[in-house]
Amino acid sequence: MAGIRESIHGQWSSRWAFVLAATGSAVGLGNIWKFPYITGENGGGAFVLIYLVCIVIIGVPIMMSEILLGRRGRQSPINTMRTLAIEAGHNTNWQWLGVMGVLAGFLILSYYSVIAGIALFHVFRTGVGTFDNATPDGIATLFNTFLDDPQALLFWHTVFMVMTMLVVARGVRGGIEKAVKFLMPALFLILLILLGYAMNTAAFDQGLSFMFKPDFHALFYYTNDAGIEVMTWNPVLIAMGHAFFTLSLGMGAIMVYGSYLPQNASIARVTFMIAGADTAVAIVAGMVIFPIVFANNLEPGMGFGLIFKTLPLAFGQMPGGAFFGTLFFILLTFAAWTSSISLIEPAVAWLVENRGMSRAGASVLSGITCWLFGLLTVFSFNIWSDVYPLHMFEVFREKTIFDLLDYLTANIMLPLGGLLIAIFAAWLMSRDATRDELDMGEGPAYISWRVLVRYITPIAVSIVFLRAIDLI
Ligand code: PFF
Repeated sequence: MAGIRESIHGQWSSRWAFVLAATGSAVGLGNIWKFPYITGENGGGAFVLIYLVCIVIIGVPIMMSEILLGRRGRQSPINTMRTLAIEAGHNTNWQWLGVMGVLAGFLILSYYSVIAGIALFHVFRTGVGTFDNATPDGIATLFNTFLDDPQALLFWHTVFMVMTMLVVARGVRGGIEKAVKFLMPALFLILLILLGYAMNTAAFDQGLSFMFKPDFHALFYYTNDAGIEVMTWNPVLIAMGHAFFTLSLGMGAIMVYGSYLPQNASIARVTFMIAGADTAVAIVAGMVIFPIVFANNLEPGMGFGLIFKTLPLAFGQMPGGAFFGTLFFILLTFAAWTSSISLIEPAVAWLVENRGMSRAGASVLSGITCWLFGLLTVFSFNIWSDVYPLHMFEVFREKTIFDLLDYLTANIMLPLGGLLIAIFAAWLMSRDATRDELDMGEGPAYISWRVLVRYITPIAVSIVFLRAIDLI
């Protein structure tokens, strides 16, 4: 049955093309910008450990499930969910899972593009030598001044969104396959060069112990305004949410890429490659950033500006810094670009399938929608920087609109989407269908996947959700 279905959008030229594109989707701002700053905000080692556990017991099995659903349905996530639900004898309401994914993708891309715009701006700022021998204070001031300027942010946000629309309009194949093939290794190489720099700072050991020595007390407890120590599971929710975000799971991005995957590729093998590469990039990024933080007496919990306030210090001091810095921000922009494409692909595929639009029309429509949502983030950094819409709730008290968008998508929508994907693949699809698609026989590998998605993953996600909102 599944063998007959074909995607109207074409197929990857090979299994490698898929691995590259999916790695391009996974590796992005999440690894280099977000992972270090949330690790810094949540106390380091214990947070990293929980994130790694989430990657293994939640991320990997859900990625396999998403690819298998995509390849079996061979359509946009909305239509794939609908078709597979009918095939399994269930209600077509499952298509709403696809709809939630499209919405999550739009919301994520809206702020992702603003941050990617900041990275793009840094290409030029580093290139002209602005950071040569700059002090930490000088760099922080430059960064804050930039954030204060809505027009500048808007300009770079627009440039990045146009870049995204251009590639999506041309179709995900040609461009992405070629770009990712050399950009990902180049990004990794430059991270290794930076790692060399970090190793030579006086604080390399301190940086490593911050990242790898777990302190669970610091993770679970914080002191509230009344000076009382309170327990919270919020950091665990953030670590889990990040596992989804960094692997591009829970919203159909990997599902839609899976729908272009040739039938003969091993889903388990490609999943390990993607998850392995993604995790390696994040860990190395952390190992670069924290030594720089400590060597310059900076605050690891300073928030989302962390990489923009630390890496320029390294570029300002190392030989050839302007060159490496420019290259680094170019590569970071590319990494963000290959991720942003996958954020709107589910919507574009659906518009082409159901509304008969051309790819170009669908990309422009989706891009403009995300661009408009992006204004919320642009203004969160300046004219609305003290607007905290949900200040009445303790966890959201000091969260700007940008913070809330990030929290809602990464920590709620993606894990919820992932939970439903796991339930669908493990409980509603027939055992024959999943075994066929995963093509691992009935051996230990298949059984482990099944036990994980049937029990461990849904239970783990539910516990984290319920504990985070204090229900259990
Ligand atoms: N995984 C990307 C990153 O780490 O930057 C972000 C992302 C892309 C999230 C695609 C979700 C998604 F569907």
